[in-house]
Amino acid sequence: MNEAIRPGAQTPPQAQPASGAPELSVVVPTFNERDNVTVLYRRLEATLAGIAWEVVFVDDNSPDGTWDVVRDLAQRDSRVRCIRRIGRRGLSGACIEGILASSAPYAAVIDADLQHDETQLPKMLGLLRAGQAELVVGSRYIEGYKSEGFDQQRAGASALATEIAKKMLRVEIADPMSGFFMIRRDRFEQLAPKLSVHGFKILLDVVASARGTLRAVEIPYTFGARQHGESKLDSMVALDFLGLVLAKLTNDAVSLRFLLFAMVGSIGLVVHLTTLFIALELIKVPFAEAQASGALVAMTSNFILNNFLTYRDQRLKGFAIVRGLIAFYIVCSVGLFANVGVAFSVYDQEPIWWLAGMAGALMGVVWNYAMSGLFVWRKK
Ligand code: GDD
Ligand code: MN
Repeated sequence: MNEAIRPGAQTPPQAQPASGAPELSVVVPTFNERDNVTVLYRRLEATLAGIAWEVVFVDDNSPDGTWDVVRDLAQRDSRVRCIRRIGRRGLSGACIEGILASSAPYAAVIDADLQHDETQLPKMLGLLRAGQAELVVGSRYIEGYKSEGFDQQRAGASALATEIAKKMLRVEIADPMSGFFMIRRDRFEQLAPKLSVHGFKILLDVVASARGTLRAVEIPYTFGARQHGESKLDSMVALDFLGLVLAKLTNDAVSLRFLLFAMVGSIGLVVHLTTLFIALELIKVPFAEAQASGALVAMTSNFILNNFLTYRDQRLKGFAIVRGLIAFYIVCSVGLFANVGVAFSVYDQEPIWWLAGMAGALMGVVWNYAMSGLFVWRKK
């Protein structure tokens, strides 16, 4: 096996692996894939015969107990490993953790739901071994590509996102949205600190972060139909995608979360003024009470929107909503003081009303954002 890796490789990835050490680590992110993992394992076993491989399942504590099924497999075959993550969710993060948990010179990422064609793996490995590439992508867009599991709408959205990514991030490969690829682990390890753990688009992130320094080859494969269970991609992944494009374009300076938070804040201003108007003009409430109700309604609607959109991945549920709402009220009230304080002192220096107003509002949103992350939607 060792001879097979070495001669001819232009850029040798690693020292020769010790006997018994895997040459290829297959990383499989899973969430509620109980009925798929055993089938995938069997298929890997069949297709990777003759290769020193291991499979690392990275499961985000699936309610269906996927990790339990994986542990059973691991008991019987030491090539199977299971990382069970608790209190965390996210496809990209799972893939990163899986690859970093391995020391095989080559790592592949493949979905658990049997939609990717695992029989391509030996060919992908061959290309990496021969030094022809540092990254091999299973691509759905180049000649020879056939699809069984992709509906019209999704295909359209995916094609659009691909175009945006190519133009804006100058990504050259045809299918940067693919979730099926193999990479030299040393190259991945260099890029890992730059990668975002949020979202779905790990490959796009890898390629964009490498800024053209990763030699990539694409091979077509048939994107199959899902066998069991359902897709975890919801309509909101478009947001994750935007966030990734934004982060990569600005070198991680602007986060999508902050922009969403600020956008929700602007909506809150409209809600506030509308409530104020209704209370004052239609219900004829005194100004102080009307203003207070405006603030309360705006804070409540901001909380709901943020919980739904901005912090979708950490959404509070059940009793945590009440606790979070109260914390949010407190954070925003202090934020209002900060807002008014800054606006006053700016106005003192420079009596330009809109400049002072904007400085105050900016101070308020930055404060609210920072404190909300600490006290309302805390990372578990
Ligand atoms: N650990 C973990 N955590 N795994 C997850 C999570 C998560 O939060 N969400 C999804 N997964 C796992 C699923 O169990 C599955 O094995 C794989 O990631 C892909 O998720 P699907 O829900 O099946 O996504 P999809 O089929 O709609 O899209 C996939 O295929 C596309 C085409 O290759 C993804 O890989 C896309 O990124 C890809 O573009
Ligand atoms: Mn799938």
